[in-house]
Amino acid sequence: MSPRHRKGSADPAERFETAPLDGALLEVRDLCTHFSTGRGVARAVDGVSFSLERGRTLGVVGESGSGKTVLARSIMGLLPKHNVTRTGSIQFEGREIIDASNDELRSLWGSQMAMVFQDPMTSLNPVMKIGRQITEVLLQHLDISKRYAAELALALLRSVGIPEPEQRLKEYPHQMSGGMRQRVMIAVAIACGPKLLFADEPTTALDVTVQAQILDLLQEQQRERFMAMILVTHDLGVVAGRADEIAVMYAGRVVEKAPTRVLFGQMRHPYTEALVRSIPKLSDPSHTRLQAIGGRPPDIVHPPSGCRFSPRCPYVQARCTEEEPPLVESDAPGHAFRCWIPVGTPESRAALEANQQAGVASSLAVAPGGSALPVPAAQQRAAAGAEPTRNSGGA
Ligand SMILES: Nc1ncnc2c1ncn2[C@@H]1O[C@H](COP(=O)(O)OP(=O)(O)OP(=O)(O)O)[C@@H](O)[C@H]1O
Ligand code: SF4
Ligand SMILES: [Mg+2]
Repeated sequence: MSPRHRKGSADPAERFETAPLDGALLEVRDLCTHFSTGRGVARAVDGVSFSLERGRTLGVVGESGSGKTVLARSIMGLLPKHNVTRTGSIQFEGREIIDASNDELRSLWGSQMAMVFQDPMTSLNPVMKIGRQITEVLLQHLDISKRYAAELALALLRSVGIPEPEQRLKEYPHQMSGGMRQRVMIAVAIACGPKLLFADEPTTALDVTVQAQILDLLQEQQRERFMAMILVTHDLGVVAGRADEIAVMYAGRVVEKAPTRVLFGQMRHPYTEALVRSIPKLSDPSHTRLQAIGGRPPDIVHPPSGCRFSPRCPYVQARCTEEEPPLVESDAPGHAFRCWIPVGTPESRAALEANQQAGVASSLAVAPGGSALPVPAAQQRAAAGAEPTRNSGGA
């Protein structure tokens, strides 16, 4: 988009267009998003920090209810108006946006940051033709003529791989397949050249072949446009080859984050280990049972004391239930984790063995190799009292 097609200096987005290119694009520090509910305070996002540079992809991974969507929506400023508190710091291009006004946020959406949602049917207007849905976004953010907007809409549909785009512009969302609708959503999201793209479970509603195509398309657009992307998913396999860095979330907290290769090669958190074990492998014989993570995600209103993963952890020791581990950095640059007894250490092997020898009945946790592991009764009770969520018991 040439400068003459941009809006004038009255546009609140102007201040972001002139921002320097060095430094992190997004810097999130100690972000907390808490909801007041009838049962108490739900700590959906609880002290999350990370930074993201231009052109890089951060994968955010965790089970259902771990806080991935609330995290993305908190950064975008797309939260409910009532019964919610958001604290901490969100810097976009070096500028604090946690207290941004509605006008400032509106100026950011589309032109600076955009989101591809899980279900295009709830995000696209079912009674508006595809062409108008795209041109409206363009006309809202860019000072361009209707004719030029129509030309851009056509080019966008073409760039996201929609066949016969001239015809598709005249269609309604229900006339398209799920994969095509998701392509339209991507076209709408990238229409105004955002610097940061959120993709929240962009492929869960699609079949496997189309999933791969859409993920490839997102990656291709992200690289071509040098956008930063936050790819949210419950499936570590989805981000394995696509993210530069991965943040693993559990009960509102980041429990491990690292460059992708480090995370897979030198994971330290037992929950990350369990997520990795739950990814199906090509080398597995057919009919191999996938390893689900035993137990349920915790109740975020009354989380377990100490480490939040303790009721499900095969390595759990007394200290784990008494004191929450802080996020500590490992020797590898960019790698941090929250665990008292990190995976791969002599202490973790001893802890695992001790737990196995304790022989308390139950199998909330899955030990390396897939054997059921005994978990103390107090932890069984804690897990049994946890809030049920959909997809409970597996990543
Ligand atoms: N408006 C709200 N009021 C109260 N609790 C909420 C609200 N929105 C989300 N939550 C709670 O915050 C927690 C995190 O929700 P979130 O939608 O971020 O999970 P998620 O990791 O995206 O899960 P999924 O994989 O199912 O999409 C959940 O326990 C959810 O019930
Ligand atoms: S070993 Fe302890 S601190 Fe580490 S994840 Fe398990 S329960 Fe938590
Ligand atoms: Mg979600």
